[in-house]
Amino acid sequence: MSTPPELPRLRDQALDAALRPSVWDDYVGQGHVKANVSVVLSAAKKRGDMPEHILFYGPPGVGKTTLAHLVAASLEAPLKSTSGVAIERAADLASILTNLEPGTVLFIDEIHQLSNKVEELLYPALESGSLDIVLGKGPSARTVELALPPFTLVGATTRVAHLSSPLRSRFGGGVYQLDFYSDEDLRSIIRRSAQVLKLTAPDEVIERVAARSRATPRVANALLKRVRDYAEVEERELSAEVADLACDLFGIDGLGLTKDDRRYLETLRDSFKGGPAGIRALASALHEDPDTVENVYEPYLLRLGFVERSSRGRILTQKGREYLGT
Ligand SMILES: Nc1ncnc2c1ncn2[C@@H]1O[C@H](COP(=O)(O)OP(=O)(O)OP(=O)(O)O)[C@@H](O)[C@H]1O
Ligand SMILES: [Mg+2]
Repeated sequence: MSTPPELPRLRDQALDAALRPSVWDDYVGQGHVKANVSVVLSAAKKRGDMPEHILFYGPPGVGKTTLAHLVAASLEAPLKSTSGVAIERAADLASILTNLEPGTVLFIDEIHQLSNKVEELLYPALESGSLDIVLGKGPSARTVELALPPFTLVGATTRVAHLSSPLRSRFGGGVYQLDFYSDEDLRSIIRRSAQVLKLTAPDEVIERVAARSRATPRVANALLKRVRDYAEVEERELSAEVADLACDLFGIDGLGLTKDDRRYLETLRDSFKGGPAGIRALASALHEDPDTVENVYEPYLLRLGFVERSSRGRILTQKGREYLGT
């Protein structure tokens, strides 16, 4: 008897692409953003014009890149993706902009990382669709204005406070904040992902994964994959128990917090007597970059009400102390 052929398995990267919604209907939640962006896009399509530039901001993994893809897809426009760090010099930006196919959606991720020089070159490009190029040096130098192919910039950032206000004000199509997701929205995302992964996931598994997903779709998908891996290795069906065991193994507790979160809370309690602790001192005690502490650790701890930010620094709340068991 011959053994059945191995079922083709998608590699993790290909899986991530498959899990990313490619149509608006699969993009769960963020209702106000979807509604507003859809008006901006439809109006532009009606005019036969490119929409004005759009900015998305919010914590990591809440769907900013996915939205940029959806914007390009609904305009049936080519998408060119790059990031604030990749565009090091003004010449890099000039080369990207002059080589755009007309009607492209240009996605710049982590756009707050653009240098001042690059930003300055970007302003006229965003405003009047042209580049100011300086030819020559010294007294004979002159500026020429180069017309660019029409494009729409979609910017994304996890650190909107780092964006200069002149840049921020150039997103005429809107500046949209993406929120954390409700439990119900997370459950629908996980349910869809389970289908894509061809998993039979009972409701109790979906609930367990949702509860530990830090209100973030990327975490939800990653966790679902880890639970699937665990079940496969242990040769068990997906169940609440399997989900719990897998999460324990990966050091994720019932609220989705990891040892890093607990270290943050314990440091605040033990080294700073519960605060207020200034962000720099706290980050240095954690051997972390203040930006990472502020934008990666804290948003979810603030949301849980375990920490408060005051003008004098971070404070561990009673709820936070209770979580730590003191
Ligand atoms: N609204 C949504 N509905 C369904 N799935 C989503 C949604 N938002 C995000 N996801 C899933 O979460 C993954 C992470 O989202 P995405 O890459 O868009 O986040 P991001 O905000 O760009 O994160 P980062 O700040 O780290 O770049 C996506 O690949 C997708 O699978
Ligand atoms: Mg992204």
